[in-house]
Amino acid sequence: MSRASLDEARTHTFAEAIAEAHILVTTGAGGVGKTTTAAAIGLAAARAGRRTLVLTIDPARRLAQSMGLEGLGDEPALVELGDDLPEGGELWAMMLDMQTTFDRLIDRHAGSAEEARSIKANRIYRTLSSTLSGTQEYMAMERLHELHEAGEWDLLVIDTPPTRSALDFLDAPNRMTSFLEGRLLKLLLKPGMVAGRGIGKVVGAGATAFMRVAGRVTGMDLLQDLATFFRDFEGMYDGFKQRAQEVLELLRDPGSRFVVVTSPEPPPLREAKFFLERLEQEGLHAAGVVVNRIRPEVPQDPSEAALQRAVDELERADDPEGPASAAVLRLLNDVRNLAGRQRRDVTAALYSTNVDTLVEVPLLGGDIHDLDGLGVIATTLMTGRNG
Ligand SMILES: Nc1ncnc2c1ncn2[C@@H]1O[C@H](COP(=O)(O)OP(=O)(O)OP(=O)(O)O)[C@@H](O)[C@H]1O
Ligand SMILES: [Mg+2]
Repeated sequence: MSRASLDEARTHTFAEAIAEAHILVTTGAGGVGKTTTAAAIGLAAARAGRRTLVLTIDPARRLAQSMGLEGLGDEPALVELGDDLPEGGELWAMMLDMQTTFDRLIDRHAGSAEEARSIKANRIYRTLSSTLSGTQEYMAMERLHELHEAGEWDLLVIDTPPTRSALDFLDAPNRMTSFLEGRLLKLLLKPGMVAGRGIGKVVGAGATAFMRVAGRVTGMDLLQDLATFFRDFEGMYDGFKQRAQEVLELLRDPGSRFVVVTSPEPPPLREAKFFLERLEQEGLHAAGVVVNRIRPEVPQDPSEAALQRAVDELERADDPEGPASAAVLRLLNDVRNLAGRQRRDVTAALYSTNVDTLVEVPLLGGDIHDLDGLGVIATTLMTGRNG
């Protein structure tokens, strides 16, 4: 994309996506404002008359409080926004409960209620479901799929977890299925090699004697758990794989769009660029880029030279307020330079990407922890201006 079209992207807003998309996923590097943006999009959509649900992941405590999310479980709750919403406009919010989501997945795919119970009680499962890398991302997608199937909302806004890299999110279903597909698992799943038919066969006869001894002291229960786990998972593999496929298809639908959030610093910007490229490769749709916490632009007048002159004059003048005024002017100049540099960095990073909406959200004073703060961001996303 040429410079002119990135400038053009700066003239577009998220109003259309917020009015029309069925799923919006906020993604980006750690700490850039994904959760805040997801909540603000939800608010904007409710104000636009849509029944909206925001699925947040680990929201900051005060944001959760202000949305009435604290202490809530896995179910959507209505956010109190007062009476001035248009007909049909509602904001619902919930937090992702990974364990509950994973448990439901087991219930769905297990061969029987007994098998589901056995897996859920298994220590290997309990550990795996909370520590396997990518599980949180996968469960967010899984929950999205469930909510989509429920069909109760006009728009679902999905926050993504604070991952090391934004790309982890897209890789999660593959990672999950390739784990389940893994060689170790296949080996253990071979008929005749599962628990109940002799764990000795799994580890080889040589180890059996050792384990018989070790098992008496410790560890045998764990090995038993491991073997049972793999046995119980055997029948679920296809279900998982198919579900992962369905989730990806849902995300490929033109009604599903990704909102790429970044701060104006080069490392998150680089990630935003990679992510946009990846979306294109995967046939997924970008709604656009939010450059969050950018310094507001300072009016170009007075010129740098005029500013310097003013500073010099103030410092020379026989005025007790002079030095303070000069310091303020210097600060203004610094802010202006920083604001200019941030915009150049954004352009340099995203210059060649195919992005048609770019909205700058200013760094607001203090954290965004109440509905007023979210309201300012919601307005900016809709109009491109924060006033
Ligand atoms: N435009 C803004 N102005 C001022 N503060 C902001 C702005 N956007 C976000 N913040 C603050 O920055 C912090 C991080 O935001 P947020 O939790 O949304 O980021 P995140 O990308 O979801 O982080 P994580 O990767 O940890 O999930 C929060 O304290 C939030 O209130
Ligand atoms: Mg977050």
